[in-house]
Order: sequence, then structure tokens, then C-alpha cells
Amino acid sequence: MSTHLSPLLTQSTNVLAVRGAGSHLFDESGRSYLDFTSGIGVTSTGHCHPKVVEAVRHQVGQLIHGQVTTVMHPRLLELTERIGAHLPHPIDSMFFANAGTEAVEAAVRLVRQATGRTNLIVFQGSFHGRTTAALAMTTSKTTYRAGLQPLMSGVFVAPFPSKFRYGWSEDQTTEFCLREFDHLLATQTSPAETAGVFIEPVLGEGGYVPVTAGFLEGIAERCRQHGIIFVADEVQSGFGRTGKFWAYEHGDATPDLIIMAKGIASGFPLSAIAASTELMSKGWPGSQGGTYGGNAVAAAAAIATLDVIEQEGLVERSASLGVVLTGLLKELASEHPYRIGDVRGPGLMVATEFVDDFGNPDPATAKAVLKAAEAEGLLLLGCGAYGNIIRWIPPLIVTEAEIAEGVDMFRRALKRVLSE
Ligand SMILES: Cc1ncc(COP(=O)(O)O)c(C=O)c1O
Repeated sequence: MSTHLSPLLTQSTNVLAVRGAGSHLFDESGRSYLDFTSGIGVTSTGHCHPKVVEAVRHQVGQLIHGQVTTVMHPRLLELTERIGAHLPHPIDSMFFANAGTEAVEAAVRLVRQATGRTNLIVFQGSFHGRTTAALAMTTSKTTYRAGLQPLMSGVFVAPFPSKFRYGWSEDQTTEFCLREFDHLLATQTSPAETAGVFIEPVLGEGGYVPVTAGFLEGIAERCRQHGIIFVADEVQSGFGRTGKFWAYEHGDATPDLIIMAKGIASGFPLSAIAASTELMSKGWPGSQGGTYGGNAVAAAAAIATLDVIEQEGLVERSASLGVVLTGLLKELASEHPYRIGDVRGPGLMVATEFVDDFGNPDPATAKAVLKAAEAEGLLLLGCGAYGNIIRWIPPLIVTEAEIAEGVDMFRRALKRVLSE
């Protein structure tokens, strides 16, 4: 009898990846794929960047596991300093875990302990993870929650300012969603019992939707007024993905707490929360920990990742190549106005949203195009509640030529699907 992987693990492609280099993955036969999924926004420095590989090889020979509730290791102290250089004042304190969802749980513990309040506000379409608290905060799709309800209580969901979904202007969308946020505070969770507001500045799994102008500022102002902790979940949008180091920087509001993972360590499991020492000190000592969090090899990979991001100007690159990618996709969309209803950034966190002749979500075309793109040799991912959005997350080291090649493959895939 042979043993198999659980059928509960689903996969969006049929690729058996044996090797990765830069923007490409290679299968057993040596076939190359242009990887514009980056392992769901993780391998921002590309697959197996030589500097990351070298740092990891060196660290493995020095120390693999310096368990951080037992001993400290120098890589973590160094990494804290390095990320610290990218944190806004007064955020100067970090706790490390492995997965994004663990960091979300850590943030939930902290905001509850620090305020003595129980409730959390999240936004419609958010994805914060699959563990107990994070899952209760996730509303991007019923698939994640189905069969698991009732979930943790004390989570309240406010509308996310999705301009395209509402079909309104930027200002109308911001105003409506702030008004509804106030209504939530007046009707479901009073400020005095609300510990934290968690928001993805660019919605990830929920459809790659940036917040509208003025929205983060409005939320930050309300948080300040009521002593609620304002949390930015930058797990998918951080480390240059959107053309700024943090996606919240596109607006004019600074969070009290930042959650990070994915792009932090080029594929090694590492996540973190960052807040001011004052806020961190309001948590209960010993309440945060874990066997593997802040692993020495992952920390070395993260330091090398930051070296690459800084030395190769990947944040600026993400901003400028994002303009190139969205420009090419908008051109393509204009050839198919009733198929691709919207193309949006920012940076290299780009969405193409498929709609039918009436402007309704069109998951059938999106899914067929994803498959046809794979056949062309281009890997992309879907997202959004209806699965009608295709997201473009190339590594930040991607070249302009690779972007053009990817869009050409996509054009051919789309043509094939539409002519079937
Ligand atoms: C914004 C956001 N938060 C949290 C998570 C959870 O991260 P992980 O899958 O590493 O647990 C994700 C994962 O996609 C995410 O996009």
C-alpha cells in the first residue's frame, strides 16, 4: 500500500516543480514556467536568489535552531534592527513567528491584553488566516469557514471600500464605508469594547483591491479617538509588493501595529508583528512564544532578502514595473471591454477582474484563462469571493521583457478561451 497526500490539499496548477530560478519554475521534464504567482507573493527576490542561497548555506553550517524562548541568536537581533529601519515611529518592537496566521493570532492576543477589551473589527473580503482567531476574521470566501462554524465570537465585519464592486467614485466609496464603520460602532460593537481594527491596505485573497483615498486616515482617526488599536495586515502587501515598502504608505495614516510575513524571507517560514515598546509592554509576558518562531536560518534568509530589496532597489522597481504591467493589461482589457472589467495595482500586486456582458462576476472565463495560461507556460492565481479575479504577483526582480512575455502569453490564452 502506498501513502498519499491528503485529498484535502487542493492545487491550482498541475506543475510538479523541481527547480526554481529567478522568475521561472521548472518541472521534471525541464519545461520552464514563468512564475507570476511567486508562491502567493512570497519569493519577491525570485526563486533561489544567489545572495539568499549563500546566506542560508552559511547559516545552516553555523546554527539551525536557536530556540528563542530558551536562547537568543544574533541573526534575530540583526533582523530586528534591519526591519526596524523600515518601521514608522514609534514602532520599535518585534515578535517573530512562522506563518502569517500565527502573527495574526499574536496581534489578536496583544490588542486584547493591551486594551482589556474583547472585540475586533475586520473588513468584508479580508483574509487573515486559517487558525482559530484568524479564521473568524476571514471573510474572503465561505470555503474557508464552511463546516467550521460557529467561529470565535467578538469579530465584527465592516464594508471594505471596493470602488469597482460598488460602482461608485473614490470619494463616494470612502464616505459610505466610513459611515457604515461608524454605524457598526453605534449598533454592534461599542468603542469601549473594541480592542482592534484589522485591515489589509490592499485586500489580498479577497480580490486585490486597494483601499480608496482617505479611508485609512478615517479609520486611524476613529481608532485614535476611541483608544482602539489600528492594525495593518501587511502579510501579502508588505516588503515592497505594492511599490512602497508597506502598502499603508500609499495613504497618510500610520498603524499602531503591523503584521508581516510572505515577502519577508524569500520562501522561508517567518512572520512577525511590530508595535511600539509601549504597546508591546501592555501584553502579558510569556503570552507570545512558540518552538520555531524566529528560526535562525529563516532570519538569515530574511536579512539577505532585505539586502537584495535594498541593493537592487526592489521597492522602486515594483512601483515602476507595476506601471508597465498595469499599462499592458489595460491595453489588453480595452480589446475585451466586456470580459476584463477592471485592471488595478498598485505596484506588482495587480488584478484583472473578469465580468460578463452585464458587469457580473465571470469566474468561468477567469478559470479557463488560468488553465490556458498554464498551458502557455505562465502561472497565475485566482482570487476574490467569486473566483473571477486573476492576480499578478511576479517576483520584484522580474524584468520588463518577462512582463511583456507574460502579458503576451496571457493574450494568447485569453484569445484561445474566447474563441472556444
Ligand atoms: C493578508 C494576509 N494575512 C494573513 C495571511 C495568512 O498567512 P499564512 O498563509 O502564512 O498563514 C495571508 C495569507 O495569504 C494573507 O494574505
